[in-house]
Amino acid sequence: MCAAPLARRRCLQALALGLLPARGRAAGPITIRLSHVVAQPTPKGLALERFGQRLQDLSQGRIRVVIHPNSLLYGDADEMQALQLGAVDMLAPSLSKFGPVGFPEFELFDLPFLFDSSAQVRRITQGPVGQDLLALLARQRMVGLGYLDNGFKHMSANRPLLAPPDYMGLRMRVQSSRVIAHQMRALGARPVVLPFGETRRALATGVVDGTENPVSNFWTQRMHEAQTDLSLTRHGYLGYAVVVHQRFWSHLSPGDRRLVRQAVDEALDWGNTIAQRENDAALAALRASGSTRIHALDEAQRRRLRQATQEVFLGLQGRIGGAWLERVQAALA
Ligand code: LMR
Repeated sequence: MCAAPLARRRCLQALALGLLPARGRAAGPITIRLSHVVAQPTPKGLALERFGQRLQDLSQGRIRVVIHPNSLLYGDADEMQALQLGAVDMLAPSLSKFGPVGFPEFELFDLPFLFDSSAQVRRITQGPVGQDLLALLARQRMVGLGYLDNGFKHMSANRPLLAPPDYMGLRMRVQSSRVIAHQMRALGARPVVLPFGETRRALATGVVDGTENPVSNFWTQRMHEAQTDLSLTRHGYLGYAVVVHQRFWSHLSPGDRRLVRQAVDEALDWGNTIAQRENDAALAALRASGSTRIHALDEAQRRRLRQATQEVFLGLQGRIGGAWLERVQAALA
């Protein structure tokens, strides 16, 4: 349902108006439709592919996962709606994309310079804070199945971005997170919210001047062809939550839910071990391509960026919730 790209907007409208039946309980073979916005050879693309293979094995071929990568089926602007309406069964949006659909608490992951390492990220995602955040998703009838790393984000533009004055006046594409928008404003840039699938073109046509992402996304979206400089700022974290809709979840038998959980757990554990490697490989490929100048920042330069963006913590405390921030800070202390 709603699979043909050209028809999908009309199809989503028809689902919203109740003109089409949502998919009923599948008897026998089950197909899980999974949509995401990044390229296949990325931490997310690979982990989801692994999930599909593992579930097929565990179910002895009875449960199949059909993956639509690269915003081919749904992009940032409509994937959450597609899940709500039953046009797709599973998503893995970045944590930054939960704010606009009613979960500003998830934007805590976007706070600049919050995490120093993946081990610190893990303290949140695998601890009580991460599990309580996933439990919030029930408010919108979603079930959160787990977290997946991409990694640390860097800044790109057609000039080096080493110190706050370098950002002055730049139009920087951001995800739809108020925290990230505030971070860009704190640096003197103008945030422009755009779907991931439109970012490369926006960079190439000059609609925006720069952006932020881990290298795996930068490389696989060929953003390097439109950006002369990548500055290794490592200023923020990008991760994902794998989610399904409660309607879909409750249509599965308890045994199948266990199989899906097992396949997700194994795929995410594996995905979290390869994310750094994939980003390192993308950086090596980028270096070898010679298309983009790569700038390493020293600690003093990172400290200046950190100081310049500290106001985001205070400014967004009300949105994220002071209690969540205190719990995060206690877990990281
Ligand atoms: C972005 O929109 O920049 C990223 O979140 C895309 C993704 O899912 O990695």
